[in-house]
Amino acid sequence: MEIDLWTEKHRPATLGDIVGQDSVVNRLQKFVEREAVPHCLFAGPPGTAKTTAAMALARDLFASSFNRNFMELNASDERGINVVRNQIKNFARSLPAGNAPFKILVLDEADHLTSDAQHALRRTMESYATSCRMILICNYASRIIPPIQSRCAVFKFSRLSDDDIADRLHHIAEKENVSIDGEGENAILYLSNGDMRAAINILQAASSTGEIVTADIVFAISGRANPKSIGQMLGSAVRGDYNAAIMSLRQLIYHEGISPLDLIKQIHREILRLELENNLKMKILEHTADVEFRIAEGANGEIQISALLSTFGG
Ligand SMILES: Nc1ncnc2c1ncn2[C@@H]1O[C@H](COP(=O)(O)OP(=O)(O)OP(=O)(O)O)[C@@H](O)[C@H]1O
Ligand SMILES: [Mg+2]
Repeated sequence: MEIDLWTEKHRPATLGDIVGQDSVVNRLQKFVEREAVPHCLFAGPPGTAKTTAAMALARDLFASSFNRNFMELNASDERGINVVRNQIKNFARSLPAGNAPFKILVLDEADHLTSDAQHALRRTMESYATSCRMILICNYASRIIPPIQSRCAVFKFSRLSDDDIADRLHHIAEKENVSIDGEGENAILYLSNGDMRAAINILQAASSTGEIVTADIVFAISGRANPKSIGQMLGSAVRGDYNAAIMSLRQLIYHEGISPLDLIKQIHREILRLELENNLKMKILEHTADVEFRIAEGANGEIQISALLSTFGG
C-alpha cells in the first residue's frame, strides 16, 4: 500500500500558496514576472519551503513545459565530483524546451558536496549560464564555497512562525476532515519548532486514530513529554520536594517511555522558562549541558537527570 504523505499531497504548487517567507516569496515572484532568474542559493532550516519554493518558482515560470525544463538532483545521494561532471553538465548544456528562456536545475543539499565538487560546479555554472540557471539548496550557506556564493542571489529562509504553521495546519485539517482541539494544536506547534514538515507529519500521525487530535495523542505518538509534566517535575525540584521530582522523572522515563536524551532537551527548554535567580539558573544550565553530553555518550538517564534535579534547590 502506498502511503499518502500529507507533506507531499499538500505541498504548495505555486509561490503564492507558500505561507510565511514573505520577502523571499516576493523576490521570487518578481523573477517570474520578468522571466529573469539568476543563479540562486536557498539556505535555511529544515521544513521551511526551500525545495517547495524552488519547484514552485519553476512551475510558475514554465507552466506546461515544467517537466522538460526542470531537474532536481540531490547532492547527498551521489555526492562527489562525478555528479557535477556528468548529470549536471548533460542537463545544463542542452537547450531549453518550448519557448522557455532557460532551464532550472535544483541541486538540493548542496552543502553535502565536497569542496572539489563545488569547484567543478562553479565552472559549470558559468559555462552554461545562458541555457541553465541553478538553484542550490542548503541548510547552512557557510558550507558553500565563497566563489559560488558570490555567483548566486542568496535567499535566507527562516523558521516559520507559530501563526503561519497554525494557518497551514487548519487548512490541511479542513481538507483532510480532521479536528484538532486548542491544546492539541499548541502541542504540535511546541514540537515542530518552526518546521512545517514536522508539524504536518505530526498532524497526520496524530489523526490516524480517527479521533479528535488532543495534546495527549500528539505527545504520545511523538514520544515526547507534555511540557506541563516537565514543568511540574522542575517545580517540585525547585521547592525542594525531591521525592516528588524523582517520582515524576521515573513516571516520564519508565511509564511514558520518553527517551532520556529527548527528555533532557525538553528539560532545557523548560528551565529557560523557570523563574529562578540568575546565578542559579546559569549553574543549572551548565549542569544541563554536562548531563546532555553524558547521556548522549551512553550514561544512565535516570541517574544523570536525578543528579541534575538535585541542584535545583540552590
Ligand atoms: N512555507 C510553507 N508553506 C506551506 N507548506 C510548507 C511550507 N514549508 C514547508 N511546507 C510543507 O512542508 C513540506 C516540506 O517542505 P520543503 O520540502 O520545502 O522543506 P525544505 O525547506 O526543503 O526542508 P529540507 O531542508 O529538510 O529539505 C512541503 O511539502 C510542504 O508540505
Ligand atoms: Mg528540501
